[in-house]
Formats: sequence, structure tokens, C-alpha cells
Amino acid sequence: NSSPGWPWRRLTVHCRSDILCAVKSGISTCSICVNLDHVATLRQARLTSYPSLIETARIVDQSTAVGVTLHLREDRRHVQDHDVFDVKQNILKKLNLEMSTARDIVELCLKALPAQATLVPERRQELTTEGGLNVFDDPRNLRQLIATLQSHKIVVSLFIDPTIEAVETSAAIGADIVELHTGAYAQAFLEGRQIDSEIQQLRKAALHAHEAGLLVYAGHGLTLDNVSTVAQIPYLSELNIGHGLVSHAVEVGLRQAIADFSVAMNGPAPTALKAEPILSA
Ligand code: PXP
Repeated sequence: NSSPGWPWRRLTVHCRSDILCAVKSGISTCSICVNLDHVATLRQARLTSYPSLIETARIVDQSTAVGVTLHLREDRRHVQDHDVFDVKQNILKKLNLEMSTARDIVELCLKALPAQATLVPERRQELTTEGGLNVFDDPRNLRQLIATLQSHKIVVSLFIDPTIEAVETSAAIGADIVELHTGAYAQAFLEGRQIDSEIQQLRKAALHAHEAGLLVYAGHGLTLDNVSTVAQIPYLSELNIGHGLVSHAVEVGLRQAIADFSVAMNGPAPTALKAEPILSA
């Protein structure tokens, strides 16, 4: 693919030729990029230094995940400015910074220089990113911002609703990647409704994006129960997963945490007493 939007020239990805071949053939395996926002949410709830974003980012870095995602929200409700720099300095894999187009956030991005920036819409009152980026209203400004980020060697992804129009506009304004919003699919799944039309929409958008020379990622509301159907969509090569994955980590990690606290309180559990040989008289 020789389109100017093709990002591999700028993005250092492990085994990129393997991924490229797989994506081209449409039989790729899907990678995870782990969103650590809700580790920061837990920390900010008490304004403590734990759980540590640096430590959890290192765990992600040493896992099979392709990188760490942080969303620096304008209200700084979870990730703080210093987290972006701290995490970037402590991982070898990519840092993907989710961000709005607000001027101070863009300035911080240009200082921190993450490998990837994902442009997202942002409303202060929302619990989480509720819809895709509006790529239609001001494409000229968006194109300019994308070019500025790319000139700093930052690969640019746009978080969009899974529509053909949004994919086409994203390609036209120079994005490298589109991340398809899976929120509608996740909500239908949660409510036990039919998911066929949402999956069809995601499939069509993914195919269209691939044909337009874009890399195709997806995310939002994905859990252990609903992720496999999305991961099988052709041309989708990466999923951004946060809340569901961190929630699962709490469930599978709680037993170990209780054991660690017990040791801290009472010392290690005594090992079974060795039976003394009974001496015959
Ligand atoms: N992708 C984008 C662009 C997001 O804004 C978010 C939420 O921060 C996610 C993925 C992850 O969503 P979730 O936390 O529901 O897995």
C-alpha cells in the first residue's frame, strides 16, 4: 500500500511485516492495547500514589499487549499530565494518547510525543466517550491538526462511529488509522438485544477503511464476554480495551491480594509439620 496515509513508515511495531501480511489477507489475529485510565481512576479516588500507573504500564509492556493507552481528559478526572510522561518513559512498546482537540491537550501531546494519538470527542458531563468524533463539521481544521501531529512522527487515529461516511472523511483528511466505536454493539449485547446489525455495520466500515488504505482498530465497552465476536471482524487488527479488562483484573487478582495481606499481617503460613519418626521401645 503506497497511500500517503499508510502509517507503517512512522510506527515502530513489533513484527510489523507479519501484521501487515495478515491484515492484507484479512485473516489477522487481533492485538490488545490496554487502556489504563481506570487504574488512574482508583488512584485519584483517594489521591494516593497507588495503584501505580508506572508499575501497571510495565506489566502491560511485558505482556502480549501491543501498548498502553491513556486518555488525558480535559477535566483530568483520571490520567494526569505527568502520567503521560511517566508512562512513556517506562515502556518500550507504544503509548497511545487519547485526546480531544483542545489546544492545551494538543500542546501537551506535542511535548510528550506518544507513538500514536487517537482523537476523540469529549463532553465534560459524559461518563465515558459516548460517540465517535465529528469528522464532518470542520474537516479543514482536523486535517491541519492531523498533519501537525504527523509532522512530529505521531501516528494519528480517529475514533469514529462505524459508518462509511465517517471512514471516507477520515481517509480524505489524512488519518492513518480509524478506531471504530463499538459502544452500540456493547450496549446491544449488554441488553440482550440482537447484535447482528451492529456487527454488520462494523464489518462494512472495517472493510471500507481497509480498502481506503487505513489501519482499522476498534474499542469501547468490550468485555471478556463480548470481545470475541468483534475480534473476528476481518481487517480489524487492534482493540483498545480498558474498563472491562481492568475490572477482570480485579476479579482474578483479588485472591492473591488477600493472600499477600495475610502474609503481611501474620507472616507466611506455617508449612506442614514434619512427622517425627516413632522410636520403638
Ligand atoms: N477507545 C476509545 C477511543 C476510548 O475513548 C475508550 C474509553 O476511554 C476506549 C477505547 C476504551 O473503552 P472501555 O474502557 O469501555 O474499554
